[in-house]
Amino acid sequence: MRGKNIIIGICGGIAAYKTPQLVRALKKEGANVRVALTDGGARFVSELALATVSQEPVYRKIFPPADTPETDYTHHISLGEWADALVIAPATANTLARLAAGLCDDMLTACFLTLRPGKPVLIFPAMDGQMFLSASVQRNIALLQEQGCLVFRPESGELASGQCGLGRMAEPDTIKSRLEEALQKPTEHSPLQGKTIVVTAGPTREKIDGVRYISNYSSGKMGFAIARAAVERGALVTLITGPVNLETPPGVERINVESATEMLAAARNFFQSCTLFIGAAAVADYRPALPFEGKMKKNSSEIELTLVKNPDILAEFSLQKSSNQLAIGFALEMQSDLVNAQKKLEAKQLDLIAFNFFDRKTAGFEVDTNILTLIEESGATTELPQLPKEEAAKRLLDAIEELYVNKGINC
Ligand code: PMT
Repeated sequence: MRGKNIIIGICGGIAAYKTPQLVRALKKEGANVRVALTDGGARFVSELALATVSQEPVYRKIFPPADTPETDYTHHISLGEWADALVIAPATANTLARLAAGLCDDMLTACFLTLRPGKPVLIFPAMDGQMFLSASVQRNIALLQEQGCLVFRPESGELASGQCGLGRMAEPDTIKSRLEEALQKPTEHSPLQGKTIVVTAGPTREKIDGVRYISNYSSGKMGFAIARAAVERGALVTLITGPVNLETPPGVERINVESATEMLAAARNFFQSCTLFIGAAAVADYRPALPFEGKMKKNSSEIELTLVKNPDILAEFSLQKSSNQLAIGFALEMQSDLVNAQKKLEAKQLDLIAFNFFDRKTAGFEVDTNILTLIEESGATTELPQLPKEEAAKRLLDAIEELYVNKGINC
């Protein structure tokens, strides 16, 4: 970050009040920071506060006020030329539309248009969740992503309206981390950029009675690592997870569920809209047919539990998917041959399955590493070495990116 020239573009949303903190954090890392503030942004955060923390004038209008003679005839160009990166936080629906349309009516939009090729643009929308999900906003985001902008999904939580849900701007520390990552690697177009991705993770719990359940050892680490890696490639990620003890990766929309039936209901909402479905969850295959209301008494030495088969979430998606959608599964096996995994790939008509075995030390449930063999629909296999789950997730996404290219899906 040291010596890097960063422009922070601030639009009119309540989260603008956090931006002096962001400017300060970047200055502490040795970056040169200048602020481009929209009229809306100036309603939420003071120009004086931003000028004080950045130790630079704040940039607002392309033209000087009528009674001030123009002295710098090219400042609408030079600010963008100066920058190594542009961070827009919070980005409003209005500014997303202006950027997507190529308008140039203030210093922020002028910077966006005059930034040198290859310099990263990071956009952190913050607004009401419904507004964010509206077709118009999503279209503008898709246009910006096509141009290589990194657009980060707002976080879920308490909103200024008093409601709870999607829409919060990422915290300044998260924005700083994303900027550091973007400055380390030049922005290259990932086929996952702008794609809506659903990842299932963790175990499911199937109720026996009010206090007991059937489950498995899945920790959710593999699925969460995939969700994090996909966001880093610019995807819009929804993570549907069973009960696990993990923090939500920044930029990921998380939906908590308990049982397989709940996971299926949550997933069905995305079957039409997602372009990629990755099933990393260890979904319980069976559930008690009739969960007991209250707590079962232990007054007999044996009980019989009738189990019924759970719906197969991944298969339901895969068997109805269109030619523009990909279905990726995992297969956890107790032995190292690939036959069972191959059978699952065929039965569920998957595009790829990641085989892993369970040894409690290096791979499978709970541990921090995994050893994956990726099996494609064509039968081609790629064996990966033992890797941290974060790295294994990236290698899986590399393989999925290749599938996008090979299948010619909207890259
Ligand atoms: O969570 P961790 O502790 O990090 O562990 C990761 C993992 C071992 C859980 C993960 O890497 C993994 O292998 N997940 C799949 C577990 C499994 O055995 O799945 P399966 O063989 O029962 O199912 C095959 C595929 O269908 C999976 O993608 C599964 O998510 C999906 N499935 C299965 C049954 C069902 N009812 N619905 C499903 O969607």
